[in-house]
Amino acid sequence: MADTSKTATLTFGDKSIELPVLEGTAGPNVIDIRKLYGQGGVFTYDPGFTSTAACDSEITYIDGDEGILLHRGYPIDQLAEKSHFLEVCYLLLYGELPTGEQIEKFEHLVTNHTMIHEQMHYFFRGFRRDAHPMATMVGVVGAMSAFYHDSTDISDEHQREVASIRLIAKMPTIAAMAYKYSIGQPFVYPRNDLDYASNFLRMCFSVPAEEYQVNPILSRAMDRIFTLHADHEQNASTSTVRLASSSGANPFACIAAGIACLWGPAHGGANQACLEMLREIGTVDRIPEYIARAKDKNDPFRLMGFGHRVYKNFDPRATVMKKSADEVLELMGIENNPTLQVAKELERLALEDPYFAEKKLYPNVDFYSGIILDAMGFPTSMFTPIFALARTVGWISQWKEQISDPQLKIGRPRQLYQGPTQRDYVDVENR
Ligand code: ACO
Repeated sequence: MADTSKTATLTFGDKSIELPVLEGTAGPNVIDIRKLYGQGGVFTYDPGFTSTAACDSEITYIDGDEGILLHRGYPIDQLAEKSHFLEVCYLLLYGELPTGEQIEKFEHLVTNHTMIHEQMHYFFRGFRRDAHPMATMVGVVGAMSAFYHDSTDISDEHQREVASIRLIAKMPTIAAMAYKYSIGQPFVYPRNDLDYASNFLRMCFSVPAEEYQVNPILSRAMDRIFTLHADHEQNASTSTVRLASSSGANPFACIAAGIACLWGPAHGGANQACLEMLREIGTVDRIPEYIARAKDKNDPFRLMGFGHRVYKNFDPRATVMKKSADEVLELMGIENNPTLQVAKELERLALEDPYFAEKKLYPNVDFYSGIILDAMGFPTSMFTPIFALARTVGWISQWKEQISDPQLKIGRPRQLYQGPTQRDYVDVENR
């Protein structure tokens, strides 16, 4: 954001204001409007932030037209193919790929923080037994600030680091516990001899009554799902985390806010909604009916797992996810899975349809992820918690970047007021 030699001139009424144009290392330039209100007495209007850059960041870059996603410069397909989730966590958090020694230390650190305070087990029991795991996660992650006071002082760099590691390490334990609680099975403690993804699978699927062997191919697929969801620049939940953190809120509260935002069906909740939609369609012959509904302006139905605010091309994560779905289903001997057949045919027909082509609607990351998670044995209610678990590192990296910024200001959008102007109070008998 160094080049301030360019300016844009905004003229309205009898005023003309020079605004600096800032250039990033990639992506569109931005017009710096911070002085606009002071100099011109006007606000900009952009509900939904379709044209507004809310921060500068060095973490993730998306080119939506080309379908490119880079973490610290590295393409997501290379990371999904060659790296693994904890290495991607390190990259997002610290900016560079780790050396052998650095990753060993980092993995050791994360592995040794996977247990949660024993008292938190009682906290879980306060939830209704059929609570959605996302509801439980919002509450439990927010409550971490009550259990880990010693890492809530955001002005202390060491405490920030401890909170980051705690969140990344404990999130699989919390997500697995939320699941176990919802199905009435005992909690399974983490095991330090397992890698991050295998540990999570074991905490979700093992029971004390019998041995559980983690399938390495499923563990690899799980790790890849985590990697594909690790960060996605200034999406709704990340922006929620940044806004919450701008007030100086503690990291656990900020991440709980991010989880709450992610839950919505237009965001992280889409993976659950997508699989439910594919199942509702059921057979390929019913696809045209659903495509027609998605195109009908009078029908609120949308093709879940399709479309994206930023990608106007294939979501590069969806391409990797589709390949992974084929691999996992083949491994499990269910490559003729009817839901996968419906998904592939729906994708084909939608991409051939002028409505989706004109609006540049392509499958997003959620289109195939549900099929893989379902094949692994996860119920749909766990899809969004898994997304939250994986995205935690992105939220934390963006949070750390924001609070280390000396220019940090509390986020405080303005509004275009459309309500009544000042009027006098009327006593009830005169209304
Ligand atoms: N099915 C049918 N039509 C769609 C879809 C869809 N999935 N998505 C967008 N459209 C249409 C809209 O009706 C709109 O049409 P119009 O211009 O005639 O009014 C046009 O495409 C633009 O859509 P917007 O909603 O304005 O686009 P926006 O950028 O605000 O929304 C969103 C993006 C929320 C992802 C949207 O595409 C959607 O609802 N998709 C389905 C839900 C989903 O899969 N969400 C996951 C997103 S990825 C993630 O969070 C991991």
